[in-house]
Amino acid sequence: DKEHELLPRAPVVTVMGHVDHGKTSLLDYIRRARVAAGEAGGITQHIGAYHVDTPRGMISFLDTPGHEAFTAMRARGAKATDIVILVVAADDGVMPQTKEAIHHAKAAGVPLVVAINKIDKPGANLDRVKSELVAEEVVPEEFGGDSPFVPVSAKTGEGVDALLEQVLLQAEVLELTAPVASMAKGLVIEAKLDKGRGPVATVLVQSGTLKRGDVVLAGSTYGRVRAMLDEDGKPSQEAGPSIPVEIQGLTEVPQAGDEFMVLADERRAREVATFRQGKYRDVKLAKQQA
Ligand code: GTP
Ligand code: NA
Ligand code: MG
Repeated sequence: DKEHELLPRAPVVTVMGHVDHGKTSLLDYIRRARVAAGEAGGITQHIGAYHVDTPRGMISFLDTPGHEAFTAMRARGAKATDIVILVVAADDGVMPQTKEAIHHAKAAGVPLVVAINKIDKPGANLDRVKSELVAEEVVPEEFGGDSPFVPVSAKTGEGVDALLEQVLLQAEVLELTAPVASMAKGLVIEAKLDKGRGPVATVLVQSGTLKRGDVVLAGSTYGRVRAMLDEDGKPSQEAGPSIPVEIQGLTEVPQAGDEFMVLADERRAREVATFRQGKYRDVKLAKQQA
């Protein structure tokens, strides 16, 4: 039936890599290109996630919450990312956090697309980076492996289109789908207590459609979605699979990595949240006593 019909969804991508290899620059370049391509106004990124529409399809980016957040989510069994873009600076090569990122992605079973960045720099050495990655068992397609390697410059933009194309090709292989018409489920990406607005949470919808007015159970908190903002901070009425939005209306601040789901019945949501709060307190107490 319609409610459970699976439709293609956009890949959710996280950018990882060693310090200063250009993760933020790459995300900024992609975001600027998107803004320049038709969004009104400047770069007013509002939440730690955004999506871009490319000629070949949509991609959602989670602004790298960093290895720690990725690990924390994975430890809790949450899988926020479909594909990892591994950024390696061409003038620096594989470094400790590059190895860590490879380890995380492999442990989570998430495919890597390698962006060899800073190719505009005189010290860039693609061959060296490639062989260092092969030593970590990240093998480029040209050597019979399954990881696309794309030389890029986050400074000049060279190669960025090709990178996004490779991401979408990987996504095709994954055949990502989700129901669209059902009640929403997903993950809390980040959350905070806002002085004026109360608890606010950036959530990634993973299946179904989240609507303003929905009752949401998120970890051990719940509430009715009073307001919803898109990634540009504009009011939004609904968000489908792979779309990040910021919601207001939860009674308490959930944790990053908490799963959320929409329930038809507010009382039921409160009951479950209250039950989970009690369990959470018991666990904390037991830890304190141990
Ligand atoms: P952390 O978040 O601190 O780990 O760093 P990062 O990986 O986000 O790197 P960031 O984007 O902050 O870039 C680090 C430095 O490299 C900055 O000075 C950037 O301007 C520079 N940089 C990033 N990409 C490129 C590039 O493609 N070419 C050149 N020449 N410089 C770059
Ligand atoms: Na940096
Ligand atoms: Mg950064």
